[in-house]
Amino acid sequence: MARIAVIGAGAIGGTLAAWLAQTHDVTLCARSPLTDLEVETPEGVIRAAPLILTDPAEAAPVDWVLCTTKTYDCAGAAVWLDGLMGPETRLAVIQNGVEQRDRFPQVPQGRTVPVIIDLPVERTAPGRIVQRRNGTISVPEGANGEAFVALFAETIVAAATTPDFVTAAWKKLAINCSGIVSALTRRPAEVANDPHAAEVMRGLVRECIAVGRAEGATLSDRLADLVVEWTTRAHPQSVNSLHADFVAKRQTEVDARNLVIVRLGEKHGIPAPLNRAMAALLLASG
Ligand SMILES: NC(=O)c1ccc[n+]([C@@H]2O[C@H](COP(=O)([O-])OP(=O)(O)OC[C@H]3O[C@@H](n4cnc5c(N)ncnc54)[C@H](OP(=O)(O)O)[C@@H]3O)[C@@H](O)[C@H]2O)c1
Repeated sequence: MARIAVIGAGAIGGTLAAWLAQTHDVTLCARSPLTDLEVETPEGVIRAAPLILTDPAEAAPVDWVLCTTKTYDCAGAAVWLDGLMGPETRLAVIQNGVEQRDRFPQVPQGRTVPVIIDLPVERTAPGRIVQRRNGTISVPEGANGEAFVALFAETIVAAATTPDFVTAAWKKLAINCSGIVSALTRRPAEVANDPHAAEVMRGLVRECIAVGRAEGATLSDRLADLVVEWTTRAHPQSVNSLHADFVAKRQTEVDARNLVIVRLGEKHGIPAPLNRAMAALLLASG
């Protein structure tokens, strides 16, 4: 049984905390108060009553910290680390994007595990979450990755290591960067059936492919067509999280999903004008 602290009691954090609490000692580090967890999963309802803290001063060292805040809330999440991190504690950063390794520079790289998660979950009320299907988790191979995967042995989340995490992360970014088309048109996945919108999606992904390759990812030219194809095959009414946050007038992860391509592109001398322009329009309309 491992001692695990989950920072963030949202959709991902609440779901993972509920699953892990079935077999581990879980502390949930929340910003807003809640009493317990109830997750409607494809296998039925699971419940958990982990220790819930809302004051970082009460945090004590654990074996693993799982950060599940949105990418723009890392500064707030970091406040918890002083209490939670002991000399052996490892930090798993479970967030979108390709910069999971860099978001907590105060933690040594050798104890930071970047995590890609594909788990469609939605919070309906504090501590109440709907998990739409079983998900997957991907981490780099190696001792830390294997130890992280082992935490999920008794859950229905399929966790696995990958020998090429960089490629896996950029492939996910290719899908995510194209989601800005839905946000700006305020149209769900069906927008990919519009040939003009689909061509804009391909353009965003082509920039992602060029920058991703410069960052060491192995990405096929076909990925641009594939992202459009995958989107047309999704449920026509499915709404990506950037779109959902944008229409709800919440802060979005546009920096981690689009502006990162511009930033890393500049490092390599690769322009990403489409991602830059669409991110600018999204920010200007917020
Ligand atoms: N949801 C999905 O289906 C899904 C799928 C794949 C990847 N992801 C990625 O996973 C990450 C988390 O997404 P999410 O959907 O779980 O977001 P979310 O539902 O908004 O949850 C984020 C949680 O972090 C909490 N938080 C923020 N600052 C905090 C702090 N200083 N201390 C403690 N908690 C803090 C928020 O508190 P409040 O309760 O006060 O808001 C919220 O409960 C994102 O990068 C997202 O892109 C999500």
